[in-house]
Amino acid sequence: CGIIARVGETKDAVDELLVGLENLEYRGYDSAGLAVKNGSGPAVFKREGQISHLKDMLIDEVPAGGLGIGHTRWSTHGPPTDENAHPHTGCAGQVAVVHNGIIENYESLRAELSDRGHTFESDTDTEVIPHLVEEHLDRGATPEQAFRRTIRRLSGSYAVAMLVEGSDAVYATRSGSPLVLGVQDGTYFLASDVPAFLDFTDDVIFLDDGDVVVIEPGGHEITKLDGTPVERAVQTVDWDPQDAGKGGYEHYMLKEIHEQPTALRQTLRGRIEHVTGDISLEDFPEGTFDGIRRVQFVACGTSYHAGLAGSHFIESRGVPSQTFLASEYAVSTPPVDDETLVIGVTQSGETADTLSALRRANASGARTLALTNVIGSTAARECDDALFIRAGPEIGVAATKTFSSQVASVSLLGERIVRDVVGHRSEDIEAVLSAFADLPDHVQQILDFTKAHRIAKRYHDSDAYFFIGRGTAFPVALEGALKFKEISYEHAEGFAAGELKHGPLALVTPTTPVFAVFDGQNDEKTLSNVKEVEARGAPVIAVTSDANETVSQHVDDVLTIPDTHPDVAGVLANVQLQLLSYHAAALLDRPIDKPRNLAKSVTVE
Ligand code: G6P
Repeated sequence: CGIIARVGETKDAVDELLVGLENLEYRGYDSAGLAVKNGSGPAVFKREGQISHLKDMLIDEVPAGGLGIGHTRWSTHGPPTDENAHPHTGCAGQVAVVHNGIIENYESLRAELSDRGHTFESDTDTEVIPHLVEEHLDRGATPEQAFRRTIRRLSGSYAVAMLVEGSDAVYATRSGSPLVLGVQDGTYFLASDVPAFLDFTDDVIFLDDGDVVVIEPGGHEITKLDGTPVERAVQTVDWDPQDAGKGGYEHYMLKEIHEQPTALRQTLRGRIEHVTGDISLEDFPEGTFDGIRRVQFVACGTSYHAGLAGSHFIESRGVPSQTFLASEYAVSTPPVDDETLVIGVTQSGETADTLSALRRANASGARTLALTNVIGSTAARECDDALFIRAGPEIGVAATKTFSSQVASVSLLGERIVRDVVGHRSEDIEAVLSAFADLPDHVQQILDFTKAHRIAKRYHDSDAYFFIGRGTAFPVALEGALKFKEISYEHAEGFAAGELKHGPLALVTPTTPVFAVFDGQNDEKTLSNVKEVEARGAPVIAVTSDANETVSQHVDDVLTIPDTHPDVAGVLANVQLQLLSYHAAALLDRPIDKPRNLAKSVTVE
């Protein structure tokens, strides 16, 4: 879900809220709504479906007002309907509330309110908030007192913004869900993330959990829930609003695939010296990881695949390392101690499952590190350390450039850890760093010469799509399949190449193409798996180095990648598979940037 609020003197809040909502749409988009202070009470407009449905509703009548709140929803409680869309109001319509996250005790609050005669219009957990606020107002509390008293009753994770009849302020708070404040000459924006209001300002205040902010035109005040004032500095972010637009590409995903050379240069800038084999990572000088004996990665989705690449890199260099799905780690935490480093790989820094796993690790005494793209994100602030992947904002729901930057970052960080733990640098590090130095150009070569669109055309009406790989190519096979299924809606699965014969081979037929990823290290064995597939009549498309003629002779089609170090080859192979998924989804006419049922940032467990 995404929240936006706007507070200013000029009466065009609705126009600016709609821009903010469109910028936030990628966070969830099964319904949208806004409330604007227009005369007395908040006027509420909300609709199931995309923001365009809400806009249609406002075409004939744009309410004037300087204060407003808005929301895009990704359902957690109750289906996407007009009633369940935010903002929610109480019985008397004095209060309008937007909320992101989950209120865990909403059932008991709702039962309590029902006993006192409140009736509810929606199935949401959010609706208890305006009802509680109204009760406090009825008993004579000021809007701010009513807000604070209500928030004290909530447990769970939330970011909340509220409008109240008769008050010229927006009241907001966060606890476990992101909320940032944008500042521009007395006009304010409040949002779930910075790109939401980048069209208007790049001066930002990152709020902390437990902060309560009261914003009026021309002034704001931040306090803790008990009223203690807090100072938060204004920071200027250097994201260009253009960066958050499509920049001439048909989809954000395609734009972000093409941004990878730039993103990788930013990730690597100033961090590697491939001639000497030196690595310099801002806050991580030599000796940072003295005393660490093992490394665990926790992550979800695409970031989990980058974590797998990280643990492979570290473990193959002598330091025990494993990668866990964050949602599983949070329920069954493996033994950790102060010699364990737990790295949360999370593009957004806000994924609830990953945050929860990191908190478990922290509570068990491990040292925690956030590897993230978002400065000021919850993961970055809560972990002992943070390393930023510097990929720039990613809008497409399907992660692309952040995966490449994550893999580059986990490798550099991995080498830093290995040096401290093992006591010497990896033998092949000059070759690895030199491959990373070449990586942006190598990615560019793929973008310039790929034939992924032709392969997509040839195979896009198949029954299912399988992806196999071994060693460093295994996470790429998983990521290739994830990307393919999430944006094409076709059945796709990734397997360890060696596992194929232990079950998945039963699925292989002449109408199930198999994409075999080669890492240049384990090619012979993967080739024998390819032969098993071919014997069942399935077409095989290899993703392999242009130097590998043996593989090319045995397969139906090849997506080539420049010859490089095996630990870097995965990033290149993955770029080919990103393009394959993109073109297949485009041929199938899918809504590529906003696949159904998925959200960019999933802030619920
Ligand atoms: C969501 C997105 C995925 C992403 C995952 C983890 O499920 O749809 O693309 O990989 O979250 O996100 P994170 O921000 O933690 O990397």
